Amino acid sequence: MFINLNYTLQNNIFLALFVGQSLVKLHEVDSTNDYLKNLLSNSKPLIEGTVIMAEYQTAGRGQKGNVWKSEKGANLTFSILLRPSFLNVNQQFQLNKAVSLGISDVLIEILGKEAKIKWPNDVYFNNQKLGGILIENTIKGNFLKESIVGIGLNVNQKEFDVNDDRATSLSKILHQDYDLDKLLSQICGAIESRYLQLKANKNQLLDKDYLRRLFRLDESHQFEIAHQNFEGVIKGVTPSGRLSMQLSNGEQMDLDLKEVKFIFD
Ligand code: BTN
Repeated sequence: MFINLNYTLQNNIFLALFVGQSLVKLHEVDSTNDYLKNLLSNSKPLIEGTVIMAEYQTAGRGQKGNVWKSEKGANLTFSILLRPSFLNVNQQFQLNKAVSLGISDVLIEILGKEAKIKWPNDVYFNNQKLGGILIENTIKGNFLKESIVGIGLNVNQKEFDVNDDRATSLSKILHQDYDLDKLLSQICGAIESRYLQLKANKNQLLDKDYLRRLFRLDESHQFEIAHQNFEGVIKGVTPSGRLSMQLSNGEQMDLDLKEVKFIFD
């Protein structure tokens, strides 16, 4: 179910060759990921790189079943259709890397400072969350078929829910608003570049850049693992996308998203 108040198909001047060349802008929808999923299941012929963006989502979804809330018209909430059929299922985390690198490439350019990637693929600036990514894949045999890459980025929102004390926005950091269409175009271009690196098998480069931007890499911090607090150090990410941690008690663990929580002092 989705509400489609206004539907426009635009062919803008974009910084990308295929990501965002077909752009659907909606005033309101439940979730851009679900909208794109619906279009695909209705066998609509959609070209790779199609972007669905919404001014407002009534049921935006985040990772781990969380809700993604975003003020109407203030931020970017959009989904990109990719067809990474060259990726084996056991390499699917490389797509997360490529997308989070693309977004952080743009943020670093805008902020002039290092935006970090909080594993697995949140974008952080100074211990605060600027945005998140929700990638939903379909698989054919041992390979990926289609990926819906959902991106929520806080751009011009000034106030956040009291429970969202980790949230920030570009405008809160820069003390000025940023043009949403321009940012969308920049991000589509940067994701496309990183995606083409992935397609060209430049995995070493992606791994190196991802690790270099990884939030809290090689730093000692508190983490919650199986409802207990531990002092640990992030050492990297396994090929399947698990977080490699070295605990202060000497134990080494590879954890998935449900098994570990970052603790902020
Ligand atoms: C997270 O940080 O948990 C991921 C948030 C992803 C939110 C985006 S907004 C556009 C797309 N549509 C959704 O319903 N979710 C993603």
